[in-house]
Amino acid sequence: MKYIKVEGPTPLKGRVRVAGAKNSVLKLMAATLLAQGTSTLRNVPDIIDVRIMGELLRRLGCTVDHDRAAASLRIDVPQKPGVRADYELVRAMRASICVLGPLVARCGEAHVALPGGDAIGSRGLDMHQQGLEELGARVHIEHGYFIAEAPNGLSHADIRLDFPSVGATENLLMAATLTQGTTIIDNVAREPEIIDICRQLAEMGADISGIGSSRLEITGVSELHPADHCVVGDRIVAGSWAFGAVMTGGDVVVDGIDPAHLRAVLDKLECAGATIEKEESSIRVHGPQRPAGIRVSTLPYPGFPTDLQPFVVALNALAEGTGMITENLFEGRWRFVQELTRLGARVRVDGHHALVIGVERLSGAPVEASDIRAGAALVMAGLAADGVTEVTGVEHIDRGYENFVNHLTELGAIVERGESPDPVDAVLG
Ligand code: EPU
Repeated sequence: MKYIKVEGPTPLKGRVRVAGAKNSVLKLMAATLLAQGTSTLRNVPDIIDVRIMGELLRRLGCTVDHDRAAASLRIDVPQKPGVRADYELVRAMRASICVLGPLVARCGEAHVALPGGDAIGSRGLDMHQQGLEELGARVHIEHGYFIAEAPNGLSHADIRLDFPSVGATENLLMAATLTQGTTIIDNVAREPEIIDICRQLAEMGADISGIGSSRLEITGVSELHPADHCVVGDRIVAGSWAFGAVMTGGDVVVDGIDPAHLRAVLDKLECAGATIEKEESSIRVHGPQRPAGIRVSTLPYPGFPTDLQPFVVALNALAEGTGMITENLFEGRWRFVQELTRLGARVRVDGHHALVIGVERLSGAPVEASDIRAGAALVMAGLAADGVTEVTGVEHIDRGYENFVNHLTELGAIVERGESPDPVDAVLG
């Protein structure tokens, strides 16, 4: 059992640089499938999910060269990539589903294992399916695989998403770049990561207008070419450090981020009593002695991101007064609350809502991470709590946070990473 052990209370103080966004780079890697030849990505985070996506691309016939020291990736895509993404990789990383759009557009066929639900809830694919059908693909599910076929190529369509899904927007956008005619996708997601992929596609020769708005117009081209692209900074990792600073009464400068991407988050941290300074590509977050409870509803961008919701619960747990959180995207995200109560948090969950009554002090305890963000939020809560908190399920944190323990150490945390035998295994032999 891998663990991260922290000793609190310790304020986070200093400077930390965030790498490129996980939720962008994985899609940018998939988008390289749209063009034969060698694409380069820069500002690539050194995280497990990038390795999983690299392996998936290798199995599709690509050559993937990750230069960790230079934070760059070179992906050489063959003239005829494979079309099958196997269950063993897709189940390890749900974002694998984003190879669907590029493969069906470029190869006329894609067989991608259905990822199933995960720790944060059931996660539908109906909008991916319906959109691809509107683009002229035949889609069906067979033996656990999502199969999309368009042997004569895709055609243009006028699509309206029921909900601004990040994944559906990305898959349909990528697929539409190689169709004939002009495709309109209305009610698309507007996350900075969507703008990033639009920019990369434009650099590859795609014709896209409406970038950053909720209506994209894509005029298909017959061929795209490889490009050299720098990944947008990770606003969720930056937000995690900002919450860490406020929860611990610390003072942290976060570099490598556009503060505009965190507008909703920084506004809420100011409500909690933090002092925020914004520069062109950095933020300074100075926490109060004790934060005040805040009210947050998660929403698609530019609303408050669901990925930072566990941090809001953790902050409210030690805040003065009562906080309220409404989770509108992933019902399973409350699983983490159970672990937080082990630190002494007083949380009552009712449907989409959680009421949190702040306590004077949390107290360290062993806890388990169930997903990436829950894991990082538990570590931050542990830093603010009295005594030792041991967080297991560290593999989740490694999926999305580069050099997490090193950064914590640089910011003054008393932290140790290790591996201990599973006591249940020991009993069962
Ligand atoms: N949904 C459907 N049908 C669909 C697509 C989505 O019902 O066809 C529902 C989902 O079940 C969910 C909601 O719509 O309730 C939002 O899903 P969305 O498609 O927007 O999310 P995603 O693409 O699966 C990405 C991020 C998540 C992030 C969400 C929301 C990646 C790899 N993942 O997921 O990030 O929470 O957008 O912003 O980009 C994380 O990084 O920890 C993480 C979970």
